[in-house]
Amino acid sequence: KEAKLWGGRFEDSVTDIVEKFTESISFDKQLYKHDIMGSKAHAAMLAQQGLISISDRDSILQGLEEIERCIEGGEFVWRTDREDVHMNIEATLTDMIGEPAKKLHTARSRNDQVLTDFRLWCRDAIDRIIGSIKHLQVALVSLALENEGLIVPGYTHLQRAQPLLLQHLLLAYVEQLERDAGRLLDCRARLNFCPLGACALAGTGLPIDRFMTSDALGFTAPLRNSIDAVSDRDFVLEFLSANSIIAMHLSRLGEEWVLWASEEFGFITPSDSVSTGSSIMPQKKNPDPMELVRGKSARVIGDLVTLLTLCKGLPLAYNRDLQEDKEPTFDSVKTIVGMLEVSAEFAQNITFNEDRIKMALPAGYLDATTLADYLVKKGMPFRTSHDIVGQSVALCVSKNCQLQDLSLDELRSLSPVFENDVYEFLGVENAVKKFCSYGSTGLECVDSQLDYWVTKLKMN
Ligand code: ARG
Repeated sequence: KEAKLWGGRFEDSVTDIVEKFTESISFDKQLYKHDIMGSKAHAAMLAQQGLISISDRDSILQGLEEIERCIEGGEFVWRTDREDVHMNIEATLTDMIGEPAKKLHTARSRNDQVLTDFRLWCRDAIDRIIGSIKHLQVALVSLALENEGLIVPGYTHLQRAQPLLLQHLLLAYVEQLERDAGRLLDCRARLNFCPLGACALAGTGLPIDRFMTSDALGFTAPLRNSIDAVSDRDFVLEFLSANSIIAMHLSRLGEEWVLWASEEFGFITPSDSVSTGSSIMPQKKNPDPMELVRGKSARVIGDLVTLLTLCKGLPLAYNRDLQEDKEPTFDSVKTIVGMLEVSAEFAQNITFNEDRIKMALPAGYLDATTLADYLVKKGMPFRTSHDIVGQSVALCVSKNCQLQDLSLDELRSLSPVFENDVYEFLGVENAVKKFCSYGSTGLECVDSQLDYWVTKLKMN
């Protein structure tokens, strides 16, 4: 067995079971790029500070570049007995270039190293997720542009409420996604501080320059407190929280589209290319991608809970438990990117069934609130108008008709305030036109929202 890099004081080697249980190489190898990036910055700093020679630095840099090529070419041999990505790369570097490699870990611990890698990895992941969010926003805005003027029933309590322009509804999701991206950007700014040089927990007595490595790696500044630097995971908790909120939003979108694709609603038809069938029922065509978006949100939320639970009982500073921070994070990122991509794909492959939607509109008195507003415009207190319209609805229910079918005499039997112009307020088409408050579902308001997004997402 090869001696461990930390093996000086040990007489016996670890058992196979312990080695297998404690390794992290099987999953943390995906940090390799950032590990190499961090090591290159560290070696350059050590040379500038006179802690290693220029020629040692150069052979370290060359060796690391060679290792990166090997990893990317699939030739690198990852060894479980070398525990994790950091020691695999360092030990291989030593195999390749000998003595100079043994100087790379000067004034560094795996504790600050792993966090440097992890923060860099999360930073890239955030950028990737924000890209996927924009892509979905563009897909939703495109869908809105393709369905101009379409009115759909709006629901509260899943009961008919008021008419909405479909565009308005789609843009609601675009707004949520924008805040989702904003939360990620906030998180990115807060996580972009450099742990490198915090070493194990106390810093070092060697004359390193933490500002130099921080700069070289694109961080805002080195973290101020070395103990904090190696012990906290709040940056990744914040990241997984932001992902969980995205997952929750996408799950709601998934739920809505699954519902709308049902025979009962029939508002949308997903194309065959985003649907799947049943192994027994030949007629089935299911919206599986959006069901799985709803389902996978559970994993993303679970990943956050795993990490919160992992951290809550840990004393300062580093504890090996913290190695368990990676898998939930990798899973969260992979899942959220998949959910965003498939939602965009789905959005690009659904059609709204105007006929079915139109058939649905008359039921449910979607124009009742507009009618109440009509009476208010005539000077009636709102509570009174609410009551009168309530009575009008009751009359319709008993006659099995819609508000617009009531005669003026019938309406006037409930209130003398009704006049002939009331019919301009009834029916969903008329009702939608009456909305005019900022942010409402009125045509002009929705048009200006659309203009805003088309410009903001550079779609023009
Ligand atoms: N693989 C470890 C992790 O991911 C690296 C740090 C190990 N440090 C230690 N002192 N054992 O957390």
